[in-house]
Amino acid sequence: MRSLFDATAINGIALKNRLVRSATWENMADPKGHMTDKLFQVYEDLARGGAGLIITGYAFVTADEQPNPGMMGIYHDSFIAEYRKLTDMVRSHGSRIVMQIVYGGTQTGYPAEGRIIWGPSEVADLATGVVPTPMTQGDIATLVQAFGDAAERAQAAGFDGVQMHGAHSYLLSQFLNPYYNRRSDEYGGSIENRARIIFEVYEEIRKRVGRNYPVLIKINAEDFMEGGATFEEIRFVCSQLAERGIDAIEISGGTGASGEKIPARVKIDTPEKEAYHATYAAQVAAEICVPVILVGGLRSPGVIEGLLESTSIDFFSLSRPLLAEPDLPKRWQQGDLLPARCISCNGCLQMRPGGNVCILPEAMR
Ligand SMILES: Cc1cc2nc3c(=O)[nH]c(=O)nc-3n(C[C@H](O)[C@H](O)[C@H](O)COP(=O)(O)O)c2cc1C
Repeated sequence: MRSLFDATAINGIALKNRLVRSATWENMADPKGHMTDKLFQVYEDLARGGAGLIITGYAFVTADEQPNPGMMGIYHDSFIAEYRKLTDMVRSHGSRIVMQIVYGGTQTGYPAEGRIIWGPSEVADLATGVVPTPMTQGDIATLVQAFGDAAERAQAAGFDGVQMHGAHSYLLSQFLNPYYNRRSDEYGGSIENRARIIFEVYEEIRKRVGRNYPVLIKINAEDFMEGGATFEEIRFVCSQLAERGIDAIEISGGTGASGEKIPARVKIDTPEKEAYHATYAAQVAAEICVPVILVGGLRSPGVIEGLLESTSIDFFSLSRPLLAEPDLPKRWQQGDLLPARCISCNGCLQMRPGGNVCILPEAMR
């Protein structure tokens, strides 16, 4: 029988359990995306806390496109040495670390004036109102290279893999979404065309990092908005990525304009509300031979163990619970099986000056 603390692997990278820290933007890097002591400490706490795999907050791949403050950067070789310290530290605690890489696009908290923000088509973002500059095919080729460069740097810095951010209405996910992608060239229209940029980014990364290096993607099963991509279409994209050799797929859902079904849903206060993307992840896991990671509202070890028993999902990813309790995996492993103390209030997303931290009083964590 499978259990949460089985030793596992993703493309040869040994993992001590099935618990993953889902990518979480900490808002603690310096203005150019470089490491700070505070950010380093966050990762040290996570690594000590026992997660088998830590996925970094999203790191931006081009110097002039930082969608939100305090994000990590990976757009220049100067990042390699400082991240080497980070990756060595994480491994010294027996954990592994993958860098999530992103081009943000219209999901930005910064004013758009004076910046060129790429998107698939000239359609205002329903959450931010930002209207992007439609990408030319030359821009797409440039961005594909930038993702490849970023992945090569991440590998040189000792990360155990990279994760493409293809979820939550960031640029790659907007290409999949017919509401945002109104193109009539080979990057728009059919799902094969809308997914083309993702396949090209994947192939470029793979060419740069080689067959034996973990390449992952986080993707929306559904956008939960009028006119978004359908789950049928996303299943197709997942099967194509599996055929091309992707090493793991993290199933998420929603955008900033999805009402109650935003990626980080609030008030997850009963087991029934937990694991809100589980049905999708279970179906994808049943269809492809690549590890599937489930994210979204995982709070109780019992719910996770139930999914391990009843589905083929291999990994379980948490974001907000590890802001409240970075040592949650250790706590569960030591036999304290109370659910995560996170109350899903999203106070951590209020962009406070001290970074994206849990706002619950210490006594409640
Ligand atoms: C403060 C904060 C920052 C986040 N940053 C990222 C990010 O950088 N990349 C990403 O893919 N998802 C990000 N997310 C979404 C989470 O990874 C996750 O998909 C979502 O919070 C649901 O999981 P949870 O219920 O375990 O929090 C963030 C969520 C929060 C609350």
